[in-house]
Amino acid sequence: MSEMITVAAPAKINLSLRIVRKREDGFHELVTRMAPLELADELQFSKAEKASFTCSDSTVPADGSNLVLKAIRILERHCERELPLAIHLEKNIPHGAGLGGGSSDAAVTLRAVNELCDLRLSQETLLQLAAELGSDVPFFLWSCIADCEGRGEIVTPKPEIKLGWPILLIKLPFGVPTPWAYQQWRDSMKIPGIDYSPQIVNGTELVNDLERPVFQKHFILAELKQNLRKHKGVRAALMSGSGSTVFAVLDQKAEVGGLISSIHKWVGEEVWIQTTKLAV
Ligand code: C5P
Repeated sequence: MSEMITVAAPAKINLSLRIVRKREDGFHELVTRMAPLELADELQFSKAEKASFTCSDSTVPADGSNLVLKAIRILERHCERELPLAIHLEKNIPHGAGLGGGSSDAAVTLRAVNELCDLRLSQETLLQLAAELGSDVPFFLWSCIADCEGRGEIVTPKPEIKLGWPILLIKLPFGVPTPWAYQQWRDSMKIPGIDYSPQIVNGTELVNDLERPVFQKHFILAELKQNLRKHKGVRAALMSGSGSTVFAVLDQKAEVGGLISSIHKWVGEEVWIQTTKLAV
């Protein structure tokens, strides 16, 4: 058994996200189809005398609120032993972006530490611990497209669905707090002239109910989506999760350079743009 392990933690996008209702526990009952991306963080774990955590991004908290460290605590609690590990996180996925970066880091931590420390926890146990860490975390224990229900933690993997779409991710220099987006959903309104209706690409429905509250506060995201949809080479455009990332599904032969120049004209230079692909 190796003493060091390096693993990729993929980002996700929500191909669809429909809210069914607000629940008594404050969460929202939803139905969402999520897909992993090739864009990924990288995590390195090695056994150590003393626990340590470093991150390439100094804005990522290194305290108890960090989902990687929360995942270690939950494993320690479950196995009733200390797990002193040196952990390094190379952050490529922006946070507050609706791309699931923190959730993916947490899921990968559960799986990698289970292997490195020979904890022998079953997938069922890992799924239970993942659900305690966050609604999106169980999805990342599967490496395929999946349909998620409940608050997101009830996962039906769909390994038979292979899309491999080229994707362009666009994130403006602000994030959207997930609790805020859900809280605003019920009382939010559609903006006249903005199209929220499902878009169909190769039989797959793309729609996101959280666009309604988030677009109401950040109109620039609604404009960005509309502009993307009109652009040559773009098959569909949608916000991912609670935002603020908007993604475009591209034609295989899309001329990305021209599209990126147009995006800069619409929203300015201060924007994170990344080409990637659905990992499956
Ligand atoms: O589960 P997670 O920690 O990712 O959720 C963050 C917050 O997002 C929750 O505290 C809740 O306010 C909101 N949320 C929700 N319904 C969901 C998932 C998240 O209202 N299905």
